[in-house]
This record gives sequence, C-alpha cells and structure tokens, in this order.
Amino acid sequence: MVGGIMNGATDLCDKVETLPKELDLKGTMNCSDKLAQLPNEFDPMEIAPPFTLEGNGVAEDLTSRNRDIVLGRNVHTISYAIKEPEADDDVTGEREAYMASVLSRYRTSLIERTKHHLGYPYNLDFDYGALSQLQHFSINNLGDPFIESNYGVHSRQFEVGVLDWFARLWELEKNEYWGYITNCGTEGNLHGILVGREVFPDGILYASKESHYSVFKAGRMYRMECVKVGTLVSGEIDCADFERKLLMNSEKPAIVNVNIGTTVKGAVDDLDMVIETLNKSGFKGRFYIHCDGALFGLMMPFVKRAPKVTFKKHIDSVSVSGHKFVGCPMPCGVQITRLKHINVLSSNIEYLASRDATIMGSRNGHAPIFLWYTLNRKGYRGFQKEVQKCLRNAHYLKDRLLTAGISAMLNELSSTVVLERPKDEEFVRRWQLACEGNIAHVVVMPNVTIDKLDRFLEELMERRLRWYGNGEARAPCVAVDVGPENCRCSDHKN
Ligand SMILES: Cc1ncc(COP(=O)(O)O)c(C=O)c1O
Repeated sequence: MVGGIMNGATDLCDKVETLPKELDLKGTMNCSDKLAQLPNEFDPMEIAPPFTLEGNGVAEDLTSRNRDIVLGRNVHTISYAIKEPEADDDVTGEREAYMASVLSRYRTSLIERTKHHLGYPYNLDFDYGALSQLQHFSINNLGDPFIESNYGVHSRQFEVGVLDWFARLWELEKNEYWGYITNCGTEGNLHGILVGREVFPDGILYASKESHYSVFKAGRMYRMECVKVGTLVSGEIDCADFERKLLMNSEKPAIVNVNIGTTVKGAVDDLDMVIETLNKSGFKGRFYIHCDGALFGLMMPFVKRAPKVTFKKHIDSVSVSGHKFVGCPMPCGVQITRLKHINVLSSNIEYLASRDATIMGSRNGHAPIFLWYTLNRKGYRGFQKEVQKCLRNAHYLKDRLLTAGISAMLNELSSTVVLERPKDEEFVRRWQLACEGNIAHVVVMPNVTIDKLDRFLEELMERRLRWYGNGEARAPCVAVDVGPENCRCSDHKN
C-alpha cells in the first residue's frame, strides 16, 4: 500500500501559515474587496437588455434545485441569445453597451464564483498579465511538436521547452521521449491508452474502478476489452484483485492505467506493486503502463516520502492536466511517452508538412506559453512550497472536520479531503463541491487559504445544525467510503 489514510487529529494545525483574509487572486482579478455579494448565479435578465434574452430550456429548470440527471433532457443553463445586428446599431451604440454590460456582470460573477470554489482540482491563483500582449495572435501548434509544419504562427519553441521540463521531472532522457501539450488530462489518457493499444493490439485494458471516466471512455472508443479492478477503502487499486484478473486473462497482454491520484479520493495506486504483480503473473515484456497523473502527477514529485513516478521504472506514458495544479486559465495538459512507441502511431501528413501522432488536429498554441511562463516563474522549488502548503491546509481541514464530528478522510499523499455529502444541494452548489454517492470532496489547491476553509467550515457547521440539529434526520453513514474509523455517523462515532 502506497500511502494510507490519515486518521485522527494531527498537530499540523498550529504549523499552518496564516494567510491573508481576502481572496488571494492577483493582478486584474484582485478586486474582490470592492465587490458586493452577488447571488449565486448571474442573472442576465437583471441587465435590461435591448432585446429579450432567451432561456435555453424549460423554465422551471432555471430555478429548480433538483439536479437529478436525466439524459437528453437536462438543461440547467441559461443562454445569451445572439441576434442579427440592427441596421442602426453602429449609430445608437446600444448593442455595444449591452454587450459590455453583460461581460462586466459576467466578470463580476466569475470573481464571486472563484471565491466559493472548493470542489474541483483547479488552482485559481495566477497572474498572466504579461501574456495579454499575445491574445491577438492565432497561435496553433497543429501537427507534431518536434516537426515544424508550414503554419508559422506557432509556439513549438515554448512547447518543447515545457516538454523537456516534464521529461526531466519524470526522468526520461531528451532523446528518448516524445510528447505534446494536450487539451486536457482526458486527452492525455486517450493518447496513452491508444499508444498502448497500438503497441499491443490485442491487449486488455485494466483500470481500477475508481479511475477517471475518461479511461473507460478510451476503452469504449477503441473497442478494447476492459477489466475493472477492485479498490481498497483508500481508493487505490487492490493488487490481489488485479492479480486474480490478470491470471484469468493470461493469454493476452495487459495495458494498465495506473492512477497517480484518483479523482474522488486522491488515492495513489502503488506503481511498484502493480509492476511486481504483472511480473509475477507472467506478463514480463507483455505489458504497457499509462500513468494518469491528472492532478497529482505534478504534486507527487514534491511530496516527501512519496514513491517516485519515473521512467526508470517500467512505465510507458504519463499524463497530467495543465489547468489543475499548475494553474492555467484554459484547459490543457502534458503527455509524455517513450519515443520508441510513437512511430507505431504516427503517419506523415503532406498537407501539414508534419507528422500526425496526436489525438487532435489543431492544437492550442497559447497553452504552452502559459505553462512555460509558470514553470519559469515557480521552478521546482516554487512547486515544492505550494505542494507543502496544500498538504498542510488539507490536514487542517480534515482535522477540523473530524473534531467537529463530521466524517472525513485524507489519504497520506493527497490534498483531496473526502467528507460526508452535505445534505442540501444549494450548499453543494454554493461551494461547487463534487459529490459521488454519500461523499463529497474538497480539493485543497494553492489558492485555498485557511481563511477560505474556515468560512466553509463555519457555514457547514451552521447548516448541519439545521439539517441534523433536532435529531429527526441523521448524517449519512460513510464507513464503506472512508473506513469506520473516519466515519462520525451515529453508529460509528466514538
Ligand atoms: C484522475 C483524473 N484523470 C483524468 C482527469 C481528466 O482531466 P481533464 O479534466 O483535464 O480532462 C481527471 C479530472 O479531474 C482526473 O481526476
């Protein structure tokens, strides 16, 4: 077992940094102190537009708090209608004024929503003011990062710089790796698993049941046989179950997705044990390992005591999201694989004068510059400090929850705090929590300060008094999700 769950209160609270009271966004976004509190959702109807704004669906969906998912029928959003310009618009300036008003209110609502965000693994603390000068360019890295296409408005020089940095982090020599900046962690998984399938066309895809849905999507897209492996309470892969399932399919090679931080519990699969299980089950030389490090792939190298994700071990590809821990305003990611694998996948495209080895065609040329900018500013040492701060603050949250009698769990190597699902949907939406069954989680990112956590805790405790105060309703039992020792329901609290 790699990490294990942290139980009980630790003495970390008093070591946690005191952080500024206000939202710590920088640059253009640092104006929260001037803002009045807004309603949770931005209502464009308040703006008095020069023409009617249309709802995008059934009226009651806009106000309903009930978010049961009904496939094909769910419409929870509003839309800002686009209408043909009137002949005299330029003269009256009404349309420009209307659009400016919508954008300004939207920006205000973004600041407010940023202030109350805790549930998704996005670092919302960044300042890319220096890059606004590049906004006017249509930068596109279509094709292979290492083979220049005929389209000259690209940022390959930044892309390759970023890829070199990650290859060094995961210990793969410059002349032995291939990679590219993807659109997101999902694309990294789609690519890694595709490379695995090309290396072993009849391979079976193995992934723990707590893997991100994109892994199973890849299996479906590529019509691969897919075997789900059980997990421990911590959320990491159960290698005993893995071995059983490997032995049932010993005639076909294995393509394995290893989680470097699962989505819901932040659990890290034990890479060494996965490799050992493959070897002892007779799969030596017949397996491909893709490491899904969407969030934690960049954090783990900076966690003391954490096992290493390194190409010195028998792994074949690693992917990470760029908008998560790094903090990039647009979704993006990094994918690194062994150079020797990529020839299987790629073909030359005359129209591009480049090679096609990526999933997408056109590729965001701005994203590599944002990544390059942050990596240069922070460097290994900067990331290390941020990781330490996230882990300390996550411990603080977990300890305070447990002390307050609220079920909570934190994996040792993670900053994802699992807690009982708050009873009402309004609270869940206000703090933008991600929920699954009876549990929710808070992902402590560099922008999540102690002050923010305190505000969240205060509100949660106050709401719980309303939900459970009179004893008629009971907090859910989450022992199966977090272990009985971390469950504070009436049956388990001690
Ligand atoms: C473990 C894991 N893998 C993959 C992804 C997908 O990443 P993205 O949202 O960047 O596509 C996520 C997203 O949260 C994740 O948690």
